[in-house]
Amino acid sequence: MHWKALALALTAGHASGQGMLPMLRFQCNQLVVERLDPLVTPGSIPSPHLHQIVGGNSFNATMDPASHDLPTLSTCTSCTFSEDLSNYWTAVLFFRARNGTYKRVQQFPNLFLEGNGGITVYYIPSPDARTNVTAFKPGFRMLVGDAALDAPGPTRKVCHRCMPETGEARHLNCAAPDSQALPNEFCPGGLRSVITFPTCWDGKNTDSPDHKSHVAYPVSGSYDVGADGVCPSSHPVKIPQVMLEVMWDTRPFNDKDLWPEDGTQPFFWSTNDKNGYTQHGDYVFGWKDDSLQRAMDARCNGSECSTLKSQSVEESIAAHFNPGASHGRLGRLGRLGITGYLRGGRDARVATGRLEGVGWLDGKEDGDDGVKGGCRSFSGGEDGAYRALPRPELQPGCENCSLRDKPVEKVSKPPHLTSFPGK
Ligand SMILES: *[C@@H]1O[C@H](CO)[C@@H](O)[C@H](O)[C@H]1NC(C)=O
Ligand SMILES: *[C@@H]1O[C@H](CO)[C@@H](O)[C@H](O)[C@H]1NC(C)=O
Ligand SMILES: *[C@@H]1O[C@H](CO)[C@@H](O)[C@H](O)[C@H]1NC(C)=O
Ligand SMILES: *[C@@H]1O[C@H](CO)[C@@H](O)[C@H](O)[C@H]1NC(C)=O
Ligand SMILES: *[C@@H]1O[C@H](CO)[C@@H](O)[C@H](O)[C@H]1NC(C)=O
Repeated sequence: MHWKALALALTAGHASGQGMLPMLRFQCNQLVVERLDPLVTPGSIPSPHLHQIVGGNSFNATMDPASHDLPTLSTCTSCTFSEDLSNYWTAVLFFRARNGTYKRVQQFPNLFLEGNGGITVYYIPSPDARTNVTAFKPGFRMLVGDAALDAPGPTRKVCHRCMPETGEARHLNCAAPDSQALPNEFCPGGLRSVITFPTCWDGKNTDSPDHKSHVAYPVSGSYDVGADGVCPSSHPVKIPQVMLEVMWDTRPFNDKDLWPEDGTQPFFWSTNDKNGYTQHGDYVFGWKDDSLQRAMDARCNGSECSTLKSQSVEESIAAHFNPGASHGRLGRLGRLGITGYLRGGRDARVATGRLEGVGWLDGKEDGDDGVKGGCRSFSGGEDGAYRALPRPELQPGCENCSLRDKPVEKVSKPPHLTSFPGK
C-alpha cells in the first residue's frame, strides 16, 4: 500500500517517532500545455520553453501580481479542492527517437488518485502538531529549480525517481537512489518528478527578483518531509511545504531497440536538456480566503478535508484555460514545427510533429486558411498547418467554464510571432 510505504518512509525520516504526518495530497489535472511562464517571463508569448500547467483557469501570460487576483479571476480550477485556484507548472518531458523526432511523454495519475495527467500537489504542515504553519499571502509566488542548469544543482529540491512496477518506492524526497540526472535505465513504473519547495519565509515579501530569495530551506536536516527543521533567522516564518509530483509514462519506451545506440538515455526536458538538471516548479498562490490556513491548522490528510470544498474528478478535469483572459501558442521542440494558434484548450498536446486536442482556434499565422475561430477538435501537421476536424460543433471538452459563451467574432488574432528559439 502506498500510504503504508509512505508511512515507513516518513517514520524512517523522523527517528523521533512522530509517526504519520498528515498532509494534503490531491490531484490537479492538466489545465493546458503551453509556452507560457508568467512568473519568470511575464508577458512573453511564447515563453522560452513548454510547460504543463494546472490549477485556476485565470492563468495567463502576464498575471501581474498587483492586479491579478487568482481567486477572483478564476472561474474554475483543475484541482479537486475547488478553493485552490493557484497555478502550478513544470517543464515537460519528451522522448527523442533514433531518427531525431520527438514525442511528448504522456502523464498519468499518481498512486491512489484519478485524473488527466497534471500534477499531484502536497501541502505538508509541521511534523510537530504544536507548530502551526503560516499559509501564504495573496500574491505569493515562488520558484524551485533552474531551467538553465547544466550541472547538478543544490540537492533535495528537484529530482527524478525511477518507479517500481507497482507501489511506492520507499525512500525520502530526493534521497538516493533518486537522482537529479535523468536515470539511464528503464523505469518499470514510469518516472516521477519530485519538486520540493522551501518551508521558511522572510515574513515580508510575497516574491523576490529571482522568485527564490524570499524563501529558504531549513538550516538543519537533509531530507525533511514537512515544515520541519530550523529556519534561518533571515527567514523565520514556517510555511507549508509545497511538494509536486509528476508521473511521466516512460513505460512505452522501455525497449532497447528504441533507446540510443550510444548507451545514453533518450529523454529530454522541454528546456532541450537531456541531462535532467533543468526540471523546475513554479507556484503562484491562489487559495480562496483563508481556506489553506484552515486546512493546515486542521491537519487535514489526503484528498478529503472537512474544512475544504471539493469537486469531483470529472468536474476538475473539465476546467479550461480561460480563453477570454489569455492566449498562447504552442511552440517548437527540436524539429517539431508547430505553428497553429491555440487559445485555450483542455487537452492540447504536442505529439510527434502534430498539434492536437480540443481548443479555441484562431487563424493561422501566415494567413487565414478558412478555418474560423471556435472551439474545435483539431490536429496539426508537421508543416505547421493545422486542420480543424470536420465537424465544427462544440466538442465535449469545450462545454463548461466560459469557453462555450465566447462569441467567435470577438476572438482577436494573437500578436504576430516571427521567430522562436528551437525549444
Ligand atoms: C492519511 O490518509 C491515509 C490514506 O487514507 C491513511 O492511511 C493515513 O493513516 C492517514 N494519516 C494520518 C496521519 O491521518
Ligand atoms: C521516427 O521514429 C519513431 C520511433 O521509432 C517513429 O514512430 C516515427 O514514425 C519515425 N519518424 C520518421 C519521420 O521516420
Ligand atoms: C494551531 O491552530 C489551531 C486551530 O486553529 C489552534 O487550535 C491552535 O491553538 C494553534 N496552535 C498554536 C501553537 O498556535
Ligand atoms: C458541464 O456542466 C454541466 C452543467 O453544470 C454538467 O452537467 C456537465 O456534466 C459538465 N460537463 C463536463 C464535461 O464536466
Ligand atoms: C491576463 O489576465 C488579466 C486579467 O484578466 C488581463 O488584464 C491581461 O490582459 C491578461 N493577459 C494576457 C496576456 O492575456
